[in-house]
Amino acid sequence: DINYVYLLNGVIRWVLTIKNACIENNEELKCIRIEDGKFKEIRKDLEPYAQEEVMDLEGKLVLPPFVESHVHLDTCLTAGQPHWNMSGTLFEGIERWEERKEFLTKKDVMDRVNKVIRMQASHGVQYVRTHVDINDPNLTALEAILELREEVKDFMNIQIVAFPQYGILSYPKGKELLETALKLGADAAGAIPHFEFTREYSVESLKICFELAQKYGKLIDIHCDEIDDEASRGLETVATLAYETGMKDQVTASHTTAMHSYNNAYMIRLMRILKMSNINFVANPCVNVHLGGRADTYPKRRGLTRVKELTEAGCNVSFGTDDIFDPWNPMGSGNMRDPVYMGIYTGHMMGYEEILNSYKFVTTNAAKTLHLGDSYGIQEGNPASFVVMDAKNYHEALNLDAPVLKSYKDGKLIASCTPATRKILF
Ligand code: FE2
Repeated sequence: DINYVYLLNGVIRWVLTIKNACIENNEELKCIRIEDGKFKEIRKDLEPYAQEEVMDLEGKLVLPPFVESHVHLDTCLTAGQPHWNMSGTLFEGIERWEERKEFLTKKDVMDRVNKVIRMQASHGVQYVRTHVDINDPNLTALEAILELREEVKDFMNIQIVAFPQYGILSYPKGKELLETALKLGADAAGAIPHFEFTREYSVESLKICFELAQKYGKLIDIHCDEIDDEASRGLETVATLAYETGMKDQVTASHTTAMHSYNNAYMIRLMRILKMSNINFVANPCVNVHLGGRADTYPKRRGLTRVKELTEAGCNVSFGTDDIFDPWNPMGSGNMRDPVYMGIYTGHMMGYEEILNSYKFVTTNAAKTLHLGDSYGIQEGNPASFVVMDAKNYHEALNLDAPVLKSYKDGKLIASCTPATRKILF
C-alpha cells in the first residue's frame, strides 16, 4: 500500500486518495488527494478515479510531520560508555562525555546518528535540528554529520547548529572553530553565554555569534541561560541583538531555564524586548526537569522556562528532546511525545484545548523555529508530507501513547508501524 500508480488519460501518475482523515483534530473528516508527491486536493468529498483504490482512515488523526527542534545527535546512544552518569547532574554529564569523547571517530558518529535518525523517523519525525559540538580542533562530529545530512535527505532533513559546548571565548580558538564550521556548511551559529568564564565574555561571545551568522547568512540558535542562576541574563542580550540587527525570528533561544527563577518585576521588563525581537524559544522539558534544580534542597525548582507565559504573550515556543540516551539523559527513543507529555504537565498546560493543541510544540511551532517556510503543513499545493496516528485526536494520541501508523514524505511512505494487540484473558 505504499504508492499508487494510476493511468490518467494515458499518463502514469502517482496518485493516492485518502478518505475520513481527521486533519489536526478537525472533527469534520476530510478526503485528501495526493498527486505526484503533492497535496492536490483536500475536500469534504472526493470522487476517486475509476478503479482507484482508496485508503480509508476511519477518522484517524493526520498531522504534519514531527519536527525535532533541539537535539544533540553527536552524543546520542552513548549512555553508560564507559561509565553511567550516576549523579544525574549536567556537570557529571560533561565529565562522562569527556571520557567518551576520547573514542570519537567519524565512523562512530555516523553509525550512532544513522541509528538514532531511524528511531526518530519511526516516530514520524522528518526534520531535525541538531547541535553539533565544534569545540574540537578536528571537528570530527561536524564532518560526520555534514556527510550524513546529504546521505539521508530523502527521509530526513537535518539542520546543523555549530555549537561551541565550552564557549566561544573560553575555549582555545573558539571563534575560529565557529567560523570554520559555518564555512564548512553548518546551517546556524550557536553560543553558550552562561558557560563563558565571565559576564563580559558572555556578552562579547554573543556579538561574535551574531557577526558570524550575518557574515555567512546563517540562522542562530543559542544555548541560553541553561542554569538555575537567576543572575544569568544572556537572553536580554540575545533579544536585543536580534532586534537591533533585524535578524529577529531567524534567532532562537534554547533552554532559557534561568527564566524559571527570574523575579516577576524583571520578567515584565524582559517580556517587552522578547516580544519586540520576535525570537523563537525551545524548551526541552524532559532534560530540563532532569538536570534542573540540582543545587536546590527543598523546594526544588523544575528548571523549565516559562512556556505558558511566553505562549500566551504570542512568542513562538517549541519543544525538543535535547538528549537521547547519552550522558545527560539515560532515556529517550526519539519520540516527540515524550517532551510534549512532560512539557504540558510541568508547564501547567493541561486544559483540554491546551492538550489538544500541544502537538503544535513539536510540529508547526518547531517548523517556524527551523524556518521551514510555507511549504510545511497540510495544505493544497504543498509537498504531501504528513503522519497518520492510531488515535481519533491528539488528546487520545498523547494519553494512550498512540503510535505513528504511517509517515509520508513528499507523497512517499517512509515509515510504518503495526500496532501491538493486547489480549485480556478474563
Ligand atoms: Fe542542548
